[in-house]
Amino acid sequence: MAGTMTGKTALVTGAASGIGRAIALAFAREGAGVVVTDINTNAGKETVELVGKTGGKAVFAQCDVTKGEEVKAMVESTVREFGRLDFACNDAGIHNPLPESLTEVDEDMWDKIIAVNLKGVMLCMKHEVPPMLKQGGGVIVNIASLGGLFAEPGSYAYTASKHGVMGLTKVAAFQYARDRIRISAVCPACIDTPMLASAPEEVRQYLKSLHPIGRFGKPEEVAAAVMWLCSDLSAFVTGTGVVLDGGASAI
Ligand code: NAI
Repeated sequence: MAGTMTGKTALVTGAASGIGRAIALAFAREGAGVVVTDINTNAGKETVELVGKTGGKAVFAQCDVTKGEEVKAMVESTVREFGRLDFACNDAGIHNPLPESLTEVDEDMWDKIIAVNLKGVMLCMKHEVPPMLKQGGGVIVNIASLGGLFAEPGSYAYTASKHGVMGLTKVAAFQYARDRIRISAVCPACIDTPMLASAPEEVRQYLKSLHPIGRFGKPEEVAAAVMWLCSDLSAFVTGTGVVLDGGASAI
């Protein structure tokens, strides 16, 4: 499917690392101009360099997705740079460092996770939709999680935030369906990224055992689903989540 997005523009939040980086590279491989955005400037610029090495075009825009003014400025700079916004993938997210019991939920951590994972997605969609409306269409893909559909034991804020992302996805998809803006989500189980690498080895082994396929997913496998959602092959898909879980939710 290489080169199918030539002349289009894609924006990826959280693109300095893991899944977001793989998605930025996949958009570039399809020929889209890519805005790599993240709070982490150094790693974000590394993603831009990686895109450059594959012959693609990317620029970096520093942005904290919890701050409406920064998100607005980032989307405006995207449109200034590339003239349009066809695809937006809202990937930036954080996880609680360790599993927690309900009676030990840390308020500051709760606020932080909800701010990045939930408010961040709302703010991004809020500012991504106007240029798409203006040009007559577009696709937004939010990176939720299997924790957006089922409980992730020991992760209260994370599970709540990702269920919230699914809710936001559905309400926005409903509002903009007739405007040719499709809005969907992907719901991955464990994907081998720096986020997961920080888990203790015994936790990693346990998590691996929850996937019938016998391994974690790869960032590139999530990127492939995002490319499908952004293509006309999924023209009848909006307001739903694509599950990528190696069979985890089947048992
Ligand atoms: P990661 O930790 O490798 O990358 C996350 C990126 O988000 C980092 O570059 C970080 O700097 C950026 N970020 C954090 N806070 C930000 C903020 N306020 N503003 C802008 N950027 C910010 O994580 P990974 O694994 O690539 O996760 C990406 C997304 O996929 C997250 O939304 C995560 O919840 C979701 N996900 C990850 C899974 C996994 O097993 N790795 C499974 C299911 C969903």
